[in-house]
Amino acid sequence: LNNGVAQTPQMGWNSWNFFACNINETVIKETADALISTGLADLGYVYVNIDDCWSASVRNAKGDLVPDPEIFPSGIKALADYVHKKGLKLGIYSDAGAFTCQIRPGSLFFEKADADLFASWGIDYLKYDNCYNLGIEPKKRYPPMRDALNASGRTIFYSVCEWGVDDPALWAGGVGNSWRTTEDIKDSWASMTTIADLNDKWAAYAGPGGWNDPDMLEVGNGGMTYQEYRAHFSIWALMKAPLLVGCDVRNMTAETMEILSNKEVIAVNQDPLGVQGRKVSVEGEDNCDQVWAGPLSGNRLVVALWNRCSKAVTITAKWEVLGLNQTIAVSVRDLWKHEDLSGNVVALFSSTVESHDCQMYIFVPERVSHSAL
Ligand code: GLA
Repeated sequence: LNNGVAQTPQMGWNSWNFFACNINETVIKETADALISTGLADLGYVYVNIDDCWSASVRNAKGDLVPDPEIFPSGIKALADYVHKKGLKLGIYSDAGAFTCQIRPGSLFFEKADADLFASWGIDYLKYDNCYNLGIEPKKRYPPMRDALNASGRTIFYSVCEWGVDDPALWAGGVGNSWRTTEDIKDSWASMTTIADLNDKWAAYAGPGGWNDPDMLEVGNGGMTYQEYRAHFSIWALMKAPLLVGCDVRNMTAETMEILSNKEVIAVNQDPLGVQGRKVSVEGEDNCDQVWAGPLSGNRLVVALWNRCSKAVTITAKWEVLGLNQTIAVSVRDLWKHEDLSGNVVALFSSTVESHDCQMYIFVPERVSHSAL
């Protein structure tokens, strides 16, 4: 959607994966504080997004949405002011249906009033869900909120949360700034890998202004190993997925922080070329040995070697699957070890990858030398 935002995938935090409905204004404020104090905000994580359950269960007498007074007694405007003073942005959640998934009032047929209300509060981001949709097709339900947000006088990132039901990649490019391509992620290896594969199918439809959304990060929530979370973060970055942290940033382990704060991996996600990397080769027993790759600005490539099985394997990226001429020499930088490999590589690159881990590299093809000069 051409509304001036999402030139690169959105980065920030969302309350759902860790807190679900256990949110309140203190949690949101403390999260904003923690994004600043940990340095995550400086790395680009600027959206502080409140998910479902912020709203009271009925609209007020005027027909407006009201924040649940028990958990947001100061109101959302005060929270937006708090977050904005820190240089961050505030996101909120509603639903293109009669109710949200947790049965708060939905915005279907209330698009204009709700968009204007969000704008008056200083909201910067709307996640718009798909529950209780009365069987009306998404192509009819999502554009009215786009139009209402555009007419609100405020620039608001529009996140279409349609779960991939009606292939949103095919129609949401002109509707939203990102669109969910899959069901909800769970904090498990099985869910994360399934979702990565489903999202891969739509790579061609992503680009500046509109991104495929394989759902929010589970890094730091405890259901996966360090290697699995590192793979999750690497592949989400490479796929140009939104990087929306889903853990409690007030209480992160050093390992969680190390993953989420990897500047070199973040730079892959935020690369100005904006091309979604994809799965380019699958080999080995049980399709264990996977290479995911894509182009970056400056004629560079990102290459990930991902071991999808339970024993260490040697994974090989061949130049032919990367679209490189056989004779091209490449310099290689390891984005998790933060080091340049010595010497150039030609024709193929191999490395041994531990179970469920993912190694991530930037390849810079050498300039062709003109010996005659
Ligand atoms: C749906 C969405 C989730 C989350 C919940 C909240 O399941 O896909 O991301 O927003 O609703 O109820």
